[in-house]
Amino acid sequence: MLRFLTAGESHGPQLTVIVDGLVAGLPLDGPRDIDRDLRRRQGGYGRGGRQKIERDTAEIVGGVRGGRTLGSPVTLVVRNRDWENWRRPMQVEAAGFTPKRVTRVRPGHADLAGALKYGFDDVRNVLERASARETAARVAAGAVAKALLARVGIEVRSLVRRIGPVEMPPPGADGAFDAASVDWAAVEESPVRCPDPGTSAEMVAAIDAARAEGDTLGGVVAVVASNVPAGLGSYSQWDRRLDGLIAQAMCSIQSVKAVELGAGFAGAGLPGSAVHDAPRWVEGEGFRHRTNRQGGLTGGVTDGEEVWAQVYFKPISTLLKPLRSVDLVSRQEINAHYERSDICVVPAGGVVAEAMMAWVLAAAVMDKFGGDSLAELRRAVAAHRRRMRAGGSAGTPRGAAAPAPAAAEA
Ligand SMILES: Cc1cc2nc3c(=O)[nH]c(=O)nc-3n(C[C@H](O)[C@H](O)[C@H](O)COP(=O)(O)O)c2cc1C
Repeated sequence: MLRFLTAGESHGPQLTVIVDGLVAGLPLDGPRDIDRDLRRRQGGYGRGGRQKIERDTAEIVGGVRGGRTLGSPVTLVVRNRDWENWRRPMQVEAAGFTPKRVTRVRPGHADLAGALKYGFDDVRNVLERASARETAARVAAGAVAKALLARVGIEVRSLVRRIGPVEMPPPGADGAFDAASVDWAAVEESPVRCPDPGTSAEMVAAIDAARAEGDTLGGVVAVVASNVPAGLGSYSQWDRRLDGLIAQAMCSIQSVKAVELGAGFAGAGLPGSAVHDAPRWVEGEGFRHRTNRQGGLTGGVTDGEEVWAQVYFKPISTLLKPLRSVDLVSRQEINAHYERSDICVVPAGGVVAEAMMAWVLAAAVMDKFGGDSLAELRRAVAAHRRRMRAGGSAGTPRGAAAPAPAAAEA
């Protein structure tokens, strides 16, 4: 089973990630495979002062030798440079501890819910871990997952479709996403990770306007995984359905409030004839579909098409022009506490969403194909892809005596 855990506070000395269950023999290089995504997470127009302080890099401190994984837990460390400014309020030792308590809770943050849960009278105890600084650790884990997926031919990418009121049309036709129609170099060059230059400029202007108003903006990110083999996930139990696992992973990202699989939102308002993807046989490829509105997932199982989802981020909770709130201790109404903050994190959110999509797919790949070494895993995936190209039969020869087909139940 592939799993990861993260630890560490936003202003503590470091974030730690342990990735367990990885095959042995996977080439892994921190600067090449992980730091690139860490840098992408730090970018995007609309980020705040923290990103000027941090220069995130992942140090591999376990599980890799001579550039390849050992099959033991891969341990990564991302240091917080800002820690130098927070040594006293964040110190571990009791002696000499002089916290400046935060008691004014910020609306839209975990501050109040977390303080009520744990009985804290200092909101810093909550915000340090609830903070999206933790997404740096997730992106590091996701980069490891991407390195694994790359070795079995799967690629995960994202783009920004909407920031505040500015939206670009969905790339693709018939309500379906099509990664081949996207200029991915333009995505990476855009300050907001949107491939359409006109929309990109409008998004930047919208962020500037929000900043001038002391306000913040949310938006929508599209994430797509290409060359995913059919048959990942399962319909056999609710907690093994890949659609549910992807939705959970995306919703767990700080400030995500909705996830759309395929053209799910639009589909709810259309007749069935305009929604369902018709299967067809493509010689040399196997069974495919004429459209991909279901996001490459049917019955919680990948169906051989690109897996795509759209992730909805609410506007950043901390506003320069603070919202009304309450003091945890005095119970008086006050203006919310202001802690250095971003204006819009949707471009960075896309990188985090890529990491989560990569993670769920890598776990599904390991679940289905297993193996202790990369070579074993690759052999199993290659055999599966051959079977899919040949029509998917698990071994019963065509024309062999089989029970008479019964009418299919709905
Ligand atoms: C990459 C990223 C960076 C974020 N940076 C900030 C920030 O600077 N200020 C802020 O108020 N919220 C920020 N957020 C959102 C909050 O972390 C989030 O709204 C809060 O933890 C409450 O969680 P919830 O919105 O999921 O309920 C960020 C989210 C992401 C994904």
